[in-house]
Amino acid sequence: MAAFYSEKVMDHFTNPRNVGEIENANGIGEIGNAKCGDIMKMYIRVENGVIADVKFKTFGCGSAIATSSIATEMIMGKTIEEALQLSNKAVVEALDGLPSHKIHCSVLAEQAIKAAIADYYQRQGIDPEPIVGKLQSAEEIEACHL
Ligand code: FES
Repeated sequence: MAAFYSEKVMDHFTNPRNVGEIENANGIGEIGNAKCGDIMKMYIRVENGVIADVKFKTFGCGSAIATSSIATEMIMGKTIEEALQLSNKAVVEALDGLPSHKIHCSVLAEQAIKAAIADYYQRQGIDPEPIVGKLQSAEEIEACHL
């Protein structure tokens, strides 16, 4: 396995950061992958437009766990606008790469963050689509390659 995965992937897979739930989360996003059946749930606590806390629960493969772990580190303390700019490509680069058949796992992380931010707006009666954009369907995520 190690031959296929970078040290960073192995590090975040074996020692994932920010795992768990946030009790007083004000945004929760859940994204599933149609084909592999893996599920990622992202909890955010937004304060004054900044991601004050973020945690995740991933029932999925090692790459999904590693991408969610590093993605939480990348958006912690960032503004919502900055968090929305996080692409799955940036996540893969931060992990020093993923095998091509595992790229779709990183899309789960990007989309779970967007879903959590969309939920944050929805809870305030604001239509999230003009801000967050359209979330990808589980089938679209499965088909995703860089
Ligand atoms: Fe399902 Fe990675 S194989 S998310």
